[in-house]
Amino acid sequence: MVINEIATLAIHPTYPEETAYAIDTGDVASSEVASNDEVAGPPLGVLLASADVAKGEKVFKKCGSCHTVEEGGANKIGPNLHGILNRDKGAVGDFSYSSALVEKGGAWGYEDLDLFLKKPTTYIKGTKMSFAGLKKPQDRADLIAYLRTLGKSDVPLPPAE
Ligand code: HEC
Repeated sequence: MVINEIATLAIHPTYPEETAYAIDTGDVASSEVASNDEVAGPPLGVLLASADVAKGEKVFKKCGSCHTVEEGGANKIGPNLHGILNRDKGAVGDFSYSSALVEKGGAWGYEDLDLFLKKPTTYIKGTKMSFAGLKKPQDRADLIAYLRTLGKSDVPLPPAE
């Protein structure tokens, strides 16, 4: 170590000014967020605050083969989803849910829906909803914003800070 110190002092290296290496990493970071969901993106509240309901309706096409959303709509392979936000889990009386979903309990808050739709089988091990999940956080936020318009538009959005 001492030798190193002496060598450094002896050579008096001059380094280029720091600014020569400055790279604007801002753009790089944000494109990583868009392409890789492992990178922590903006919180759900922020995504919901700028969510696009019309896009969410399009995303719902992936759900429509198994779910209806209109009030009093029929159950298909999955239960009717009208007013799903803040609705108790497993609440549609004439639908036969998995015991895994019923045992999960509680209501479908924003975070619950986000986690479930990201990967159903991770959030509820043993769910019979066979859907791979929506990888993109913004797709989930758009979809949840759309579901919110269906009977639960008064449920306050999570803080967007
Ligand atoms: C292949 C059919 C299928 C697809 C596609 C599907 N679901 Fe489901 N969904 C189900 C089934 C079956 C259940 C019941 C799960 C259980 O009982 O474990 C369910 C349950 C749910 C529940 C819980 C409902 C309740 O009353 O507790 C929500 C919320 C939900 N789905 C949302 C969605 C959304 C949003 C999409 C589209 C991104 C989607 N599902 C796509 C079949 C599907």
